[in-house]
Amino acid sequence: MQPQAHPTETLLPDVFLIESAWEVCNQVGGIYTVIRSKVPATMPAWGERYCLLGPYFPNQAQGEFEPLDELEVHTGSDPYTSAVRAMRAQGYDVCIGTWLVTGRPRVVLINPFQVYGQLAQLKTNLWQRHGIPAPDHDDLLHQVIAFGHLSKIFMQHVAAHVPAGKRLLAHFHEWMTGVAIPDLRRERVPAHIVFTTHATLLGRYLAMNDPDFYDHLMRVDWQAEARHFNIEPAVQMERAAAHGSHVFTTVSELTVRECIYLLDRMPDAVLPNGLNIERFVALHEFQNLHQQYKSKIHEFVMAHFFQSYSFDLDKTLYLFTSGRYEYHNKGFDLTLEALARLNHRIQASGMDGQVVMFFITKRPYTSINPQVLERRALLDEVRDTCRAIEQQVGERLFYAAAASQDHKLPELGEMVDDYWKLRYRRQLQSWKTNVLPPVITHNLGDDRTDDILNFMRRAQLLNHRHDRVKMVYHPDFVSPSSPLLGMEYGQFVRGCHLGVFPSYYEPWGYTPLECVARGVPAITSDLSGFGDYVLQTIPEPEQKGIFVVRRQEKTFHEAAEELCDMLWNFVQLNRRERIMQRNAVESSAELFDWKNLRVHYDHAYGLALERQ
Ligand code: G6P
Ligand code: GLC
Repeated sequence: MQPQAHPTETLLPDVFLIESAWEVCNQVGGIYTVIRSKVPATMPAWGERYCLLGPYFPNQAQGEFEPLDELEVHTGSDPYTSAVRAMRAQGYDVCIGTWLVTGRPRVVLINPFQVYGQLAQLKTNLWQRHGIPAPDHDDLLHQVIAFGHLSKIFMQHVAAHVPAGKRLLAHFHEWMTGVAIPDLRRERVPAHIVFTTHATLLGRYLAMNDPDFYDHLMRVDWQAEARHFNIEPAVQMERAAAHGSHVFTTVSELTVRECIYLLDRMPDAVLPNGLNIERFVALHEFQNLHQQYKSKIHEFVMAHFFQSYSFDLDKTLYLFTSGRYEYHNKGFDLTLEALARLNHRIQASGMDGQVVMFFITKRPYTSINPQVLERRALLDEVRDTCRAIEQQVGERLFYAAAASQDHKLPELGEMVDDYWKLRYRRQLQSWKTNVLPPVITHNLGDDRTDDILNFMRRAQLLNHRHDRVKMVYHPDFVSPSSPLLGMEYGQFVRGCHLGVFPSYYEPWGYTPLECVARGVPAITSDLSGFGDYVLQTIPEPEQKGIFVVRRQEKTFHEAAEELCDMLWNFVQLNRRERIMQRNAVESSAELFDWKNLRVHYDHAYGLALERQ
């Protein structure tokens, strides 16, 4: 379903829009990316009539939020500033300012803890008015309930300050902010309400625990399951928001099915996620960046592997997967199975080259593995020695060249002092070891029950010299301050050759899209909202370097074989083909630019404005 572009500019000048999300100035997961990346495409249409609303957590907001000048708060006549003044006059602590991201939108942040004294009453109200239970001792629920109450008050004030003849649209993301909706309706606050769910809570739990989730979906007793997983209050909040909104939306057709069966409301629209795609003026700049960041990954790989054995880096491909540690939902299980098969295929084929596969996810760990750190430190020393020798030889060669009588290149080894020769030899002696390169970079809190490690042990994917698929399980996010992969996540993505994300449950899934935006090919699945959207909108996605594993109606083993085929085809490409593929990927990224996808939001807003 592709909505026609609504005549936004003529439709909306009389409308004020508040978008409320838990992740405004507060990065937790994918919704942060949705809201933040959408700002540059949203501001030109809405400008001053747009305001974001979120909870205030000082540590998180630090560096992202800049408060408005107090004079402006006192004199501002727009509904948002007026509402902030009115709340402050009632004794509430409310922040208004700018979110320091591209587009610099107006943002209001409210500290939920300020009404913790009223929690008991707020919970009673939720139960008596809307049948939503709330347990004690659940801090997230407490924050959510408190913030819901405060955002309702804020919306009331904004609605009261919207000039006569103008209208207010209130768009809530996820149950954490949607909890304000039932009371807004009950108190008849004049706002047109849109609610977007980015998953269903129950869907995520069920998918994690039921291998036949999609077959059973139609027959789920939502209340019994919500109780079983001990998430009934949040599920009730989600349902109340879905049913209370004028327009209910979600992020993909896949989640539509979940909404129908688990929330009992059919969404009015699907709002696919985009990114703010920034393309370089010089077409090949992104290819150069690939080369540059690949060299950084090379450094890590040399340190990690070469102490045990070496291989040709020029014939090495970097694959990776990343995301929340949901072994089954994120398709880590399928990826591992396919990699084990790929390892055998490459071995049997006698093909040159190898694959290094990175698993980037977050697990509780006690420390970086000292062995891994030591390998890195030793290699750094070797490099320092090489640089010292290089400098010495360079200077002496220059002198010799200037003084040369016979125009012959002198014996370079003779230009190195014994000191450096000895040091070089000693370092290389301590550099080599017979121990296998570790498959994991950190010491996990619980190493024995970890699913990824257990698979590697069972399948003997343990970085033996003869393995052609090598494993690096990095149970922490990539960050510039890390002594191992000291780079931004986005830089790491650029340096890799292929992203692998064949999810089993994924309402949207930004990870493959983040690859595409950087010109890196990616594998997704038809059980991820993104993959499903790609199949519906791009005729031959593999021509664009986007590969969709068919998991619907396939067994695990059939899907693993398909994924293995995809990987096998990829490793057989030559460099020229990979470069061309990256060009094709990069040029398709524009399809996912918010400038093109914002139309779905406009369509939903148009619908909401028609409903009272
Ligand atoms: C980019 C660079 C080329 C480099 C290539 C390596 O395209 O601009 O100079 O040769 O990357 O590609 P590969 O797929 O082998 O990492
Ligand atoms: C949720 C979904 C994820 C989606 C994100 C943004 O976190 O689980 O698939 O990408 O929301 O919509």
